[in-house]
Amino acid sequence: MARKLNVAIVGATGVVGSIMRRLIAKERGNWGEVRLIASARSAGKRLEVGDELLTVQAIGPDVFDGIDIAHFDLPDDVSAEWVPVAAAKGVVVIDKSAYFRMDPEVPLVCREANPGDAANRPKGIIANANCTTLALIPTLAALNAEFGLVSMSVASYQAASGSGKEGLEALYAQLQKVGGADGAGTAGNDLRLVLGEEFNAPFGAPLALNVVPKVGGWREDGWTSEELKVRNESRKILGLPDLKVASTCVRVPVAVGHSQVVHATFEREVTVAEAHRVLAAAEGVDLVDDPENMVFPMPIDSVGREGTQVGRIRQSIDFPNSLEFFVVADNLMKGAALNSIETADLVRRELEAAQQ
Ligand SMILES: NC(=O)c1ccc[n+]([C@@H]2O[C@H](COP(=O)([O-])OP(=O)(O)OC[C@H]3O[C@@H](n4cnc5c(N)ncnc54)[C@H](OP(=O)(O)O)[C@@H]3O)[C@@H](O)[C@H]2O)c1
Repeated sequence: MARKLNVAIVGATGVVGSIMRRLIAKERGNWGEVRLIASARSAGKRLEVGDELLTVQAIGPDVFDGIDIAHFDLPDDVSAEWVPVAAAKGVVVIDKSAYFRMDPEVPLVCREANPGDAANRPKGIIANANCTTLALIPTLAALNAEFGLVSMSVASYQAASGSGKEGLEALYAQLQKVGGADGAGTAGNDLRLVLGEEFNAPFGAPLALNVVPKVGGWREDGWTSEELKVRNESRKILGLPDLKVASTCVRVPVAVGHSQVVHATFEREVTVAEAHRVLAAAEGVDLVDDPENMVFPMPIDSVGREGTQVGRIRQSIDFPNSLEFFVVADNLMKGAALNSIETADLVRRELEAAQQ
């Protein structure tokens, strides 16, 4: 019988790390040791993985010894430093930061689109795409396979937890400050005055009772890093280097669940009935599309769900080769932890088979 592989969650104390602990607990029987790693600030903390209480270890060169697969849930700069250290020790790293995603020698894997790429990892590193991109991929992959995707225009409505622990805590703090204040956000009760400068962090402007059309850092020509990720990462995962993509990313006062409006254009005319048939059978997609009965995807119904939800599907009136639809996914599940778990499952099976 194959030896059970040892797995690490690096960044186990963060919002994604906490979902990772819950998901690993559900498949605990597949693994030998489960090791929790975070910064020196968290060393010694005891955290639950199912029924077990495990002690967090500080990141360091020796902490990866004996680990077979490591999920990295760290800020970009910290991943940049430590992923190569773990990979050099023979650990297969699945990294959720943006740092390695566009490296041609690092596959960017989503089970619904390119599962085979997980086995081709010359640097021992597999990247997990951005949460906004991952929410789209299961739907796009299924439609592309059938109708040939030519272009898409996307607008996002992204949750505060996409900015990690800090983002989620900031939204709750702002809501508490404005909550119950009659007229909050009206002319007589300017939110900037109520919240003050301190609440501009970390979104650049107040988020409570507001929307902020900036996610990520500024890049050339007025684009944000998030908008470029949606374009570049979708192209890489779908294997469509020439896919035309326009993206606008917006932060909204939602705790969990990234929503997106998509206008997708295909090689031929696509009816709603055809799209329903394909998406009803697609892996990783929940078709939620009965609008007259108020059944459509929404972030409040996405939390904790494995599937990405798609609905409000319409054939574009003026563009018969195009569909309009609304996609929602839990940014911490398919957008982060769940996708990483699914990729680790591919690698675990491969490594176990190699032992026999
Ligand atoms: N949130 C999302 O929706 C989402 C979706 C997709 C991908 N991601 C990516 O996933 C990663 C984690 O995001 P998150 O939202 O979980 O962030 P988070 O809540 O801020 O958690 C960050 C984690 O990194 C650890 N960390 C920070 N600095 C460290 C250091 N110098 N050394 C070792 N550990 C350090 C923290 O440990 P301490 O508690 O000890 O500081 C914590 O465990 C990021 O790369 C993010 O871009 C996030």
